[in-house]
Amino acid sequence: MNIEFDSTELRLLTDKESIRLHPLWMRERSKEETAVDQRSFQRLYDPETLADNLTFSDAKQLDHDEILIKFSDQHEAKYSLKDLLLEVEKKDNLPQKVYWSTSNLEFKEFNFDYSLESEQQMLEILEYFHKYGFVVVKELHAQEGEIINFAERIGFIRETNFGKTFDVRSKQQPNDLAYTSIELGPHTDNPYRRPVPSIQFLFCVENSCVGGNSTLVDGFQVAKDLKAQYPDAFKILSETNIFFRFTDQDTVLENTGTTIELDDEGNFVQIRFSNRLDLVPYQAPDKLAKYYEAKRIFHGMINSDKYLINFRLPAGGLLIMDNYRLLHGRTSFNTSEGSRFLQGLYIDHDSIESKYKILKKNKNG
Ligand SMILES: [Fe+2]
Repeated sequence: MNIEFDSTELRLLTDKESIRLHPLWMRERSKEETAVDQRSFQRLYDPETLADNLTFSDAKQLDHDEILIKFSDQHEAKYSLKDLLLEVEKKDNLPQKVYWSTSNLEFKEFNFDYSLESEQQMLEILEYFHKYGFVVVKELHAQEGEIINFAERIGFIRETNFGKTFDVRSKQQPNDLAYTSIELGPHTDNPYRRPVPSIQFLFCVENSCVGGNSTLVDGFQVAKDLKAQYPDAFKILSETNIFFRFTDQDTVLENTGTTIELDDEGNFVQIRFSNRLDLVPYQAPDKLAKYYEAKRIFHGMINSDKYLINFRLPAGGLLIMDNYRLLHGRTSFNTSEGSRFLQGLYIDHDSIESKYKILKKNKNG
């Protein structure tokens, strides 16, 4: 990559384009010690105190990646071209997401080795997670609470009204269908919370019942195919705000959101689908008829063999999944023939992303 400049802009010349950079945009990215604290890289000044007519006075390339820039306020700073390009292209240093259906998924399970303290093991687990939106880790100690130990290797647990962890086993007076033995179709968890929990851990302490398999669907792949095949249904599901509520004796949780949430550029942000507790707001019958038709198409897709994977989580098995991207469910099970006990918890996206970035940085030095 080459650079050129005049007083009002610096240009990065890539194979494809010329990227134009403003003097203030560059100046406030200076990492020199007069500009930022060298530990936190936070600015030591208010960028609003810089001259609003700041200009470039010189720019030269030091090697294939490093450039030296001089500004009209006499400040000089070095920059990495690679880092500038990453920021311009809004890349986030995470593995690229691989959308999947049953035909292209490379399903892999990781056997956790406690004797290996290497960071490489966790890096591989988190790399798979970021690509596919889930990861299965096996051979953990099959005991109550082990899920907490493992989660704390990665990040911080997000407590809810269910507690630090929630126990998934059939109960006498369940306050959630998760605590029964019935089949649960693909859904996302807790769309009634604000914010919705981001990453779910589900850990099997015991599963000697017949049935009770886990199911997963890549909601972003389904949304992508829905957009291509049924654009009207896609539009309705990405524009209709649905109301969700959880209530028991002690708690009322309420939130709204679309089934398929998009950002301003049309990228997928979040899937919300929990059809045992969703309430579509009032609309005239002809509009509602279209909504119900769109929802049935989506429901048909997420329940089809084209998208739904089914596998058994054995004792000591942990499933980590992105609750904004994947839908999950389970097949029914019979407690008269054995017992089933899973524990779950939530952590946030930034925790797991941070862990991945640190492990990757340590590896690359
Ligand atoms: Fe769930």
